[in-house]
Amino acid sequence: MKLVRNALLALGVSAAMSLSASAADYVLKFSHVVSPNTPKGKAADFFAKRLEELSKGRIDVQVYPNSQLYKDSAVLKALRLNSVQMACPSFSKFGKIVPQLALFDLPFLFKDIDHLHRVQDSAVGQKLKDMVTAKGFVALDFWDNAFKQITDSKRPLIHPTDCKGLKFRIMSSKVLEAQFKAVGAIPQVMPFSEVYSALQQGVIDGQENTNSNIYTKKFYEVQKYMSLTNHGYLGYLVVMSKKFWNSLPDDLKADVKQAMKEATAKERQWAIELDKSQFAKIKEYADKTGKLQITKLTPEQIAEWKKAMEVIYPEFYDPKLIGKDLIQAAQNTK
Ligand code: LMR
Repeated sequence: MKLVRNALLALGVSAAMSLSASAADYVLKFSHVVSPNTPKGKAADFFAKRLEELSKGRIDVQVYPNSQLYKDSAVLKALRLNSVQMACPSFSKFGKIVPQLALFDLPFLFKDIDHLHRVQDSAVGQKLKDMVTAKGFVALDFWDNAFKQITDSKRPLIHPTDCKGLKFRIMSSKVLEAQFKAVGAIPQVMPFSEVYSALQQGVIDGQENTNSNIYTKKFYEVQKYMSLTNHGYLGYLVVMSKKFWNSLPDDLKADVKQAMKEATAKERQWAIELDKSQFAKIKEYADKTGKLQITKLTPEQIAEWKKAMEVIYPEFYDPKLIGKDLIQAAQNTK
């Protein structure tokens, strides 16, 4: 049906959308803010295809990438109203709903991706999902992106003190605000869709993001320096509208769960692969043009960043923010 709709749309036939809407029993709109060629983008497309197959076309899944439908946290309001049925916001974007998810934003909390997965798969992860469910959403799976790097256009960032006085775009997050203030920088909240032009116009000096987002949104083309800090993690929680979920019969609920399970397994793999391959593309650009200087920090330099940033943890010991128990449980997860 999607092919027919696309063909009709290409011909400018305006009835195409309503034809499509009437063909399936359910329409599931999945909104996200990144490019299709990212771990989240690829997994959303895979989920769509797989759910259409499993449901034998009874659910028509429409994926809207690149903030086409909703920007950042606005999607959570839309999900409540069932104006959109599925989304996959990064943890920071749940700030007004379940601020405790910012646990995953804490800089240098996780030793590596396996440690992070163990925390997500533990009682800590379940508790956080339950908090989201209690707020009227259906919490599905955690999806990965990767650890973040920092880019800027003022000077190479070798020591945390090099950030002093620089303006960095952050997602709306108290943790990220505290993290940049801890190194003397000026954090500025901004939607993802506005970062490229803000960097280009010099409204901000820099930003933090994963290789995948830096590559697919071309941030590297409007920045002069990139420091491989791996200081914090960027990941997501896939959420569904409760109203939509409740409207599904049991067999279709089972199809959603199965498609999610398969998509999550693939997503974790794509996250690892794209982090490497898209960094290689950024490096190729840097080597070829000389317009971007990439710095790989030494273990001693990384230790300096860790020391400078982890001082913020006690600010989040209040259970209304994150909670000491959750932070310590994550630290102690073996
Ligand atoms: C950001 O705003 O930088 C990220 O949340 C974008 C994303 O969803 O990966």
